[in-house]
Amino acid sequence: MNKVTSPGHTDQTAPAGVRRRPSVIPEMGESTDRLESLRQEEYLQRAAQAAARLSEEIGRPLTFQVVTFGCQMNARDSEKLTGILLQAGLQPTEEEGADVVIFNTCTIRDNADQRLFGRLGRVSHQKRLNPIMKTAVCGCMTQEPGNVDKLRRSYPFVDLIFGTHNLFRFPEYLYRLLSGEKHIVELWEGTDRIVETLPVKRLYPFKSGVNITFGCNNFCTYCIVPYVRGRERSRTAEEILEEVRRLAADGVTEIMLLGQNVNSYGNDLEDSISFPELCRRVCRTEGIKRVRFMTPHPKDLSDELIEVIRTEPVMARHIHLPLQSGSTEILRRMNRRYTKDQYLELALKIRDRLPDVALSTDIIVGFPGETDADVEDTLDVIRRVSFDNAFTFIFSPRRGTPAAQLEDTSSEADIHRRFDAVLRQVQTCARARTRALEGQVMEGLVEEVNRQQAGYVTARLSNNLLVHIPGDASMIGQYLPIRLEDCRGFYYFGKTEECNG
Ligand code: 5AD
Ligand code: SF4
Repeated sequence: MNKVTSPGHTDQTAPAGVRRRPSVIPEMGESTDRLESLRQEEYLQRAAQAAARLSEEIGRPLTFQVVTFGCQMNARDSEKLTGILLQAGLQPTEEEGADVVIFNTCTIRDNADQRLFGRLGRVSHQKRLNPIMKTAVCGCMTQEPGNVDKLRRSYPFVDLIFGTHNLFRFPEYLYRLLSGEKHIVELWEGTDRIVETLPVKRLYPFKSGVNITFGCNNFCTYCIVPYVRGRERSRTAEEILEEVRRLAADGVTEIMLLGQNVNSYGNDLEDSISFPELCRRVCRTEGIKRVRFMTPHPKDLSDELIEVIRTEPVMARHIHLPLQSGSTEILRRMNRRYTKDQYLELALKIRDRLPDVALSTDIIVGFPGETDADVEDTLDVIRRVSFDNAFTFIFSPRRGTPAAQLEDTSSEADIHRRFDAVLRQVQTCARARTRALEGQVMEGLVEEVNRQQAGYVTARLSNNLLVHIPGDASMIGQYLPIRLEDCRGFYYFGKTEECNG
């Protein structure tokens, strides 16, 4: 995928107007990253001036909306985009038709693409109502070859397209956008840079994701991520811990360490500490009360990590451990690098050593060539591990991945029948695991006001379970003892212990 061109040269094969940057830029180190930060800070000031001029012209403040699709990594990237837009003086709005609308896209499955196209379809109408409206598309989808051409053809009104590798240059692109430039397309095919010093606006004041690695080296055959997010790059432990300390000083108590495979943290660095050691140090940072991580690959989840979770109470009582399939043959074709038995051994070891830890998973049904017998193996693993929660997906061929070339012999009806069987099994297990907690008192972090139930707030337990309790916005960010009273399948209604007393 990555193509090396000489530094500074524009790729001649790129479509007109598309600037493709070299994937490896020599002599780039920490000092150039600092220089780049300074450059972007300068652009941010210029963007703020351009925004102020525009807002004077129209006689009201400029508004923006960031629409996020996909995973926690994208959510974190959107916090960075929001931070930059706020710093440039724009005001957030929930309403469609803002002056600047950014779509941060996901391309992991086809339905994510379709949702974006649905939203973009409405933009041309909104642009007619608001002629100064500017639209940008960024994120994983733009990194997929072919998509940019499609976007430019079908949605010519999109003003700015940029990718995942050059997100840190958003201040510069925003400045150009606000200065009236149109049809800006800036895509890099890769990067070795990590510029993490730009402003960030957290969605929640009390919790935050912290990127520890970017990209993925695993090349599971169905997955587009290694192609759109590039090779694995780790941030240094000092940088990560410094960010955690800054967040803690700013009132954050819950940290989610983010990476495509957190277990391989540091493999690309010299003399790095391991992921479990990183967890331990984050746990011991003053002010941090909960540490989560997303996502560990089952092929290399170490005993050391299990031990850190066992001995550090600050580690959340939850592990998300993607299974994908219970069939050893399908796992081999997925290039997952573990067998059914190896997964079972690991999951049951976790159950044994960490009995209070909830285990959740991801499962794909309908991988090319999957048979009823393969799905039986998946059902068997679900029953034996009894997952607390699971996300089930139907295989979606992604262009350019090896699995997209494989022939599938199953009918749609077969796939849906198998999907339903997996979903039913997952739900049965999850309900039983959830119900088993009834009556217990556990600590919950109040995250938000419950929009469905007036007079209630929603808290998240360390094991990731949601509980709705009577309360109001003043409780947000507090850790409270909560009695789990009324099990509603996968969540609870409860009361704080104080209320009970
Ligand atoms: N089709 C269906 N599901 C997929 N996932 C990743 N790629 C695909 C695909 N091509 C699922 C995996 C992964 C989760 C984030 O998305 O289960 O763990
Ligand atoms: Fe995709 Fe596999 Fe990497 Fe996860 S580990 S991002 S499924 S290639």
